[in-house]
This record gives sequence, C-alpha cells and structure tokens, in this order.
Amino acid sequence: MSKIIKGFSKLSKNDKIEWLVETFFNADTSVTDILKMYWNSDDKLQQLHDDFTENTLSNFYLPFGVAPNFMIDGEAFTIPMVIEESSVVAAASLIGKFWSTRGGFKTEILGTTKIGQVHFMYKGAKDALQTYFDEVKEDLLEATEAITLNMRKRGGGILAIELKDKTADLEHYYQLHVTFETKDSMGANFINSCLEAIATRFDKEGIQIVMSILSNYVPECLVRAEVSCTLAELAAGTTDIDPQEYADKFKAAIDIANVEPHRAVTHNKGIMNGIDAVVLATGNDFRAIESCAHAYAAKDGQYKSLTQCEVKDGIFRFWIEIPLALGTVGGLTALHPMAKLSLDLLQKPSAAMLMRIIAVAGLAQNFAALRALTTSGIQKGHMKMHLMNILNQLKANAEEKEIVLAHFENTPVTHSGVHEFYQKIKIKA
Ligand code: MEV
Repeated sequence: MSKIIKGFSKLSKNDKIEWLVETFFNADTSVTDILKMYWNSDDKLQQLHDDFTENTLSNFYLPFGVAPNFMIDGEAFTIPMVIEESSVVAAASLIGKFWSTRGGFKTEILGTTKIGQVHFMYKGAKDALQTYFDEVKEDLLEATEAITLNMRKRGGGILAIELKDKTADLEHYYQLHVTFETKDSMGANFINSCLEAIATRFDKEGIQIVMSILSNYVPECLVRAEVSCTLAELAAGTTDIDPQEYADKFKAAIDIANVEPHRAVTHNKGIMNGIDAVVLATGNDFRAIESCAHAYAAKDGQYKSLTQCEVKDGIFRFWIEIPLALGTVGGLTALHPMAKLSLDLLQKPSAAMLMRIIAVAGLAQNFAALRALTTSGIQKGHMKMHLMNILNQLKANAEEKEIVLAHFENTPVTHSGVHEFYQKIKIKA
C-alpha cells in the first residue's frame, strides 16, 4: 500500500487511524487499541482536544504535578508543573521549601513590551523612504484602530513604530519595527494582525513587503527573580563542607557556564526544566519561550548562563533575568481545562505575575541542579526518583515494587543493581 495519501485531512478520525494502522503497522489492531485507549470518555472534551490542532488521532499524556511551598514576594504559591522527567518536581518542591525559610523569592518586572516587524525591500533613495514613512506614520496607526480597540481599552496597544535601515546587513533591506504592549494576553495573533494591517497601508512604489510577523525575541519583556541569604543559612542542613567553600564552589559552577557554552547549554536546560513545566501547565507557548530564552542567553555574542551569582561579605545572592512572553487570557489558557485549573491554582495571575512565578521556577530548578552537582553529584537523587521508571520497565507488581523500594532506601540506585535485585526477589515473590 502506498505510504503517500491524498486528502488525508478530509478523512474521519476513524478512517485516518485505519489508514495509518494498515499502512505503517501491518494492520495490527493493537495499535488502534492504544490510540483509542487515550481518547477521553467524555466526547465533548475529546472533541475540544481534537479541535486544538489538525489530524488529531488521540491524546498524548504528560504527568501533571505540583511543587508546593514557594514564597514569592511574600505570597505562598503551589506551582503546577507538566513534565515527564523524574526528579524535576521533587527538586522544585525541595527548593521551594528551602527558600521559604530564608526570605523566599523576590521578583521584579523589568519590562513587558513585545516586538513585531514588517520586513521589506526598497531600492529607491533612503531620504524618499524616510519622508514617506514620516508622512504615513499616523495613517499606519489608524489602519490598526479597529484591531487595537479592545487592547487599548485594557491599557495596551501599539507603543511605537520605527523605520529601521538594515541595508548595512542586507542590501535594500528595511523594517518597520513596532513595539507593543499586550497586557495579559501573549498577543501573537493581535501583533500579527496589526502588522498585516500596517503592511497593507505601507504602500509606496518600490516597496516590496517580504513578510509581517511578531518577533519571539522579546528582550524587553523581562523579569528578574532573586534569592539571598547568609552563607551559614545557605549551607545549613545541606553539606558538611565549609559554607564559604560551598558558596564559592556554587559560584564557580556559574562562572564556568559563563565561559563554556557546552556547560552553559546544559545549565540552561536545567533552568528550562522548571520554566517549560509551568509554561506547559498554564497553556503557554513553550517553543516561543525556549527560542527567546536561548537567544537572550547569547545576547553578548557568546552563549552564557541565564542565572548569575554573587558571594560577598558573607551573603550569597543568586538570580535569573529572563525574557518571558506569556499570556493568562486568550489562547489555550481558558480553553484547555487543565491550563485553566493551573491558572486558578496560581490565583488567576496577570501575565506579569505569571512571569514572576515562572522565573522563580527556573531559578529554583537551577539552584537544585547546582546544589546537587557541586556536592553529592546529580545521579544519587536522580536515580532514586528514576527507580519507579526502572521498575515499571521491568513490569514489577505492587508487592515487588515495595520490596525493591525498601531495599534501595539506603543503597545507591543503578540500572544493573535494580535488575539484579529484582531478579532475586521476583523469584521469591
Ligand atoms: C537534567 O535534566 C538537567 C541538569 O543536567 C541541569 C544541569 O546540569 O545543571 C541536571
């Protein structure tokens, strides 16, 4: 049977599954069973999920967990997290509690503006283009009035339109660089609609519009989150080594990430473990958040750590500065029942409040990783958390799991160690 099909999108869901199973799975009906096993029994809810995107055949579960005990600017939060990786939620919970008794997390919004661009080519005289832009600037704004009406009522809208000469980078290339405030919505559709209206009105002989699109790079939609405490408090209950030595080692881990991109990528990946988990739980666009965060990490011309640290006069300070374009209205935030539940759990935050919470989740995750890496190593804690996955791979039953978990309470977890021990107790059980 041909693996190429015409009109796939027009088929019913069942027919799509049938074609897929026949074409790629040798008509194995157990594949159909798996796909259907993940359908929601509530037809309306399933339809909602089917409609989020195209050619939906089933749902793909990820665990939804929570990390309690986060004190952020004096307020207590339990943070929802959607992530499949073991030990991330446990680490967040541990660190939330750790800092809750050391003054908690302090945050600051450094900016909330977003960017959109109309990219165009123009071969004529620069002066003539500038004159034309100055003439029509007000008209460009007027062209968006119907689109921006509701946003303006909420205190947002277009803040500025600039003409940028990019011909030094690329021959004939110019931009209309537009700055937006989108309040509690992520604003992608709003920004793109405004840009297209602007591009349509920006119509002079010789101007060739190439494209109109928001930029996911939003260095001025920026949040900072910080923790600090004395070195004695930092080390208390954590490590046997001298507090100063411990803090210096922690700082050295960040200094290394700042000069060594191979380490910086892994360092920032750990930060994104926390950030993406909350971004996903709240129905936000994790691809936009990811691409922006990494571009920001490379803003000085070299990819560096998103977190920084200072050890001075007996005080440890640790902070993150990260751009986060988020929404708490629109998009999936109200449509997806679990995203809505997550936002309700966070006490219906504004987009700015969600920026604070998510920056904290990233900082906490990095603190957990660096604390483990610079003391006991990452594997001890991680493998303990991963033990249940190994047992599930081995198809251990509840009784066997209990025996194995008890055994590894005080024994280092390794794949081979678990396999070996399981084989022994499996025979007995
Ligand atoms: C694993 O998902 C994340 C870490 O590798 C982060 C780090 O190394 O900082 C533990």
